[in-house]
Amino acid sequence: MSLDNHMKLYALDRRVALVTGGAQGMGAAISRLLADAGAHVVIADVQAQKAQDVAVSICESGLSAQSMLLDVADEASIIAVTEAIEREHGRLDILINNAGTQDRNFIEDTTSEYWDRLMAINLRGPALLTREAVRIMRAHNIDGRIVNIASNSAFHASAPSLYAYSTSKAGVAGLTRAAALEVVKDGIRVNAVCPGNTTTEGQMSASGPDFPAEQIAQFAPPVGRTGTPEDIAGAVLFLVGDISSYMTGQTLVIDGGWLTC
Ligand SMILES: NC(=O)c1ccc[n+]([C@@H]2O[C@H](COP(=O)([O-])OP(=O)(O)OC[C@H]3O[C@@H](n4cnc5c(N)ncnc54)[C@H](O)[C@@H]3O)[C@@H](O)[C@H]2O)c1
Repeated sequence: MSLDNHMKLYALDRRVALVTGGAQGMGAAISRLLADAGAHVVIADVQAQKAQDVAVSICESGLSAQSMLLDVADEASIIAVTEAIEREHGRLDILINNAGTQDRNFIEDTTSEYWDRLMAINLRGPALLTREAVRIMRAHNIDGRIVNIASNSAFHASAPSLYAYSTSKAGVAGLTRAAALEVVKDGIRVNAVCPGNTTTEGQMSASGPDFPAEQIAQFAPPVGRTGTPEDIAGAVLFLVGDISSYMTGQTLVIDGGWLTC
């Protein structure tokens, strides 16, 4: 890798990127940044109107984006969206598995329906999207990039009521490593970003028991502020750019130092 022009190492010109859950929060910030780096971004979300609003605002800035309706809990929807991208663009270079639910529940309130629904969105969705993206990348000989948005709760229990959520995100970390090994021979890299406490609509509206006040104080990260969607988007750009070409199978924690301090 030549370091002569560092901006080229972040450039995504002519790449097609699929960002799940791009209608708000981190997904919207990731979509904007990847478009700014030159990618055509497909913003796919269950919130069709909001996804379209983000795409329109990106296009109004002179960049390239479109929206699609996607439910990551529905395999048929995943296949329909990825096939539509392949048909329309003939390629898929980047997949960002960002869509997720942050709903919480205590162990005793965890029904099998609640568990299955959360896993379908947070773990099975990324697994099936990875399968479809790898299929397209291999078919078109693309040295693709996949970034999964896990969580620092993949590595730390963090708080009561994250029983299913933490498990799903630990699964995403495992999926990242397993997929990375399997596709490395194809030139495809798979990494994960593990955010900590990041202020988004989804984080504030997640359903579940309130955290006890003393627990909330413990969430304060050492850097002295909570994260922003843009903090996470920056890490994603690093992982999809050629700047990180020697990285695969990694889980990059972006949490203001909370996990390590
Ligand atoms: N905010 C945090 O503190 C935090 C911390 C760690 C990890 N995360 C993870 O980061 C990711 C983004 O979180 P956020 O805070 O921006 O959340 P958010 O709720 O603001 O945004 C999530 C987006 O995903 C979409 N979505 C939800 N279910 C979907 C489905 N079935 N199919 C398609 N789209 C769906 C929503 O409509 C929404 O646009 C999630 O995977 C979340 O678990 C968030």
